[in-house]
Amino acid sequence: MSPLTVVTVGCGGRGRVYSGLVAADSRYRLIGGADPDAARVAHVRAMSGQADFRGFASHAELFAAGRIADLAIIATQDSDHVEPAIRALELGYHILLEKPIAKDLDQVERVLAAAERANRRVLVCHVLRYTRLYAEVKRLIDSGAIGEVVDIEHAEGVGAFHQVHSFVRGHWSQSAVSSPMILAKCCHDTDILSWWMGQPCTRISSFGSLAYFRPERAPAGSTARCTDGCPHVGKCHYDAHRYLGDRRDWLGWVDPLLPGKSDAEITAWLREKPWGKCAWRAGNDVVDRQVVSMEFANGAVATLTMTAFDEGRHTTIRGTTALVRFGTSIRDLTGRDLVIEWLDGRRELRDVPAGVGGHGGGDHGMIAALIDEFAKSDPRTMTTGIHASVESHRIALAAEQSRLAGGRPVELAAP
Ligand SMILES: NC(=O)c1ccc[n+]([C@@H]2O[C@H](COP(=O)([O-])OP(=O)(O)OC[C@H]3O[C@@H](n4cnc5c(N)ncnc54)[C@H](O)[C@@H]3O)[C@@H](O)[C@H]2O)c1
Repeated sequence: MSPLTVVTVGCGGRGRVYSGLVAADSRYRLIGGADPDAARVAHVRAMSGQADFRGFASHAELFAAGRIADLAIIATQDSDHVEPAIRALELGYHILLEKPIAKDLDQVERVLAAAERANRRVLVCHVLRYTRLYAEVKRLIDSGAIGEVVDIEHAEGVGAFHQVHSFVRGHWSQSAVSSPMILAKCCHDTDILSWWMGQPCTRISSFGSLAYFRPERAPAGSTARCTDGCPHVGKCHYDAHRYLGDRRDWLGWVDPLLPGKSDAEITAWLREKPWGKCAWRAGNDVVDRQVVSMEFANGAVATLTMTAFDEGRHTTIRGTTALVRFGTSIRDLTGRDLVIEWLDGRRELRDVPAGVGGHGGGDHGMIAALIDEFAKSDPRTMTTGIHASVESHRIALAAEQSRLAGGRPVELAAP
């Protein structure tokens, strides 16, 4: 079988991850890339190892060349998914689309309608479904081993420095520019919750706010930028000078060339860019904590906590015959991946080793599964096809609607 040909639209952080995985798998051939930053296209070209790789300065330029591959990876920023996705579908590409699909449900529906019109497939990068741990949990639930699921308690600890890097100083700090944080960060979580539940969500309420990373909470005497002679340099957890030391690699998420620059060049960059701003004075508006309560069609309930002040995902699923706990805290406390506690008092600990690479092996797992996913005869059965992925966006956007209305419950119409 000839390899599936691929182009990458948006050769930033995610575009490079997927390009690298595709280039390393002989079932694919990466033959093009588009990005206004020529160095990023050159990076992906080098990864591809293909002499006939074609580089473009934008998605518009790439698509003006007609359909040159089977599959387009759309890995532009949150606000720039819909237009390239629809254009690619109209040209006859199948697409691998970064989450969120879009920032509101009308736009999500536009992408879905374009896929149906063109009879093309859209796989959404809800990579967590491709991790061994979460897939094992899904098998456990579907086997009936823990009885009927009654409730799920799930937390996503963003991590305080990560919160500041991405959601205070970074690309996702303004909801109008990117999307509400519960969608940007946690459509993964609303996706796995609805996947595990296997039921539509019917009712939601949510509370949350930006209460900590605000100017009035800034340490006394702190300056607008860490590089302005702030007296807290070296003591503050969010000191941007950490980008010269233990957090240097994180700059690679912003620009792959940055970590290799000299300290003087990085310091000059921090004087200009948002990543040098004081963590309490960055002009951000997305939340730093949010809780979501959900009710599902069969009466099961779930909670999702998204917080800056914890690290990793932790979950407890309670069924009528057993409960199962897993995630970062269970791994740290027990050294094992999954704990099952049966009603009769038996306790079982299991190992489910993570796959290789980012998101607990989910990035690699998704790219490995791509060919089989695209070969499925019914797009509705694709693991993270757009049909399955709409639900996560319905939940996240309803949660934001409820939060903005002071927690008022939002009823969700049947999908
Ligand atoms: N699936 C996941 O787990 C996961 C993780 C992180 C980010 N994301 C999502 O992935 C997306 C990309 O995030 P990122 O961190 O890679 O962002 P990024 O800013 O590093 O990359 C986006 C790239 O798109 C390029 N671009 C802008 N306009 C373009 C155009 N017209 N044509 C082609 N390219 C264009 C930019 O120059 C940039 O290089 C976001 O939507 C983000 O929310 C998903």
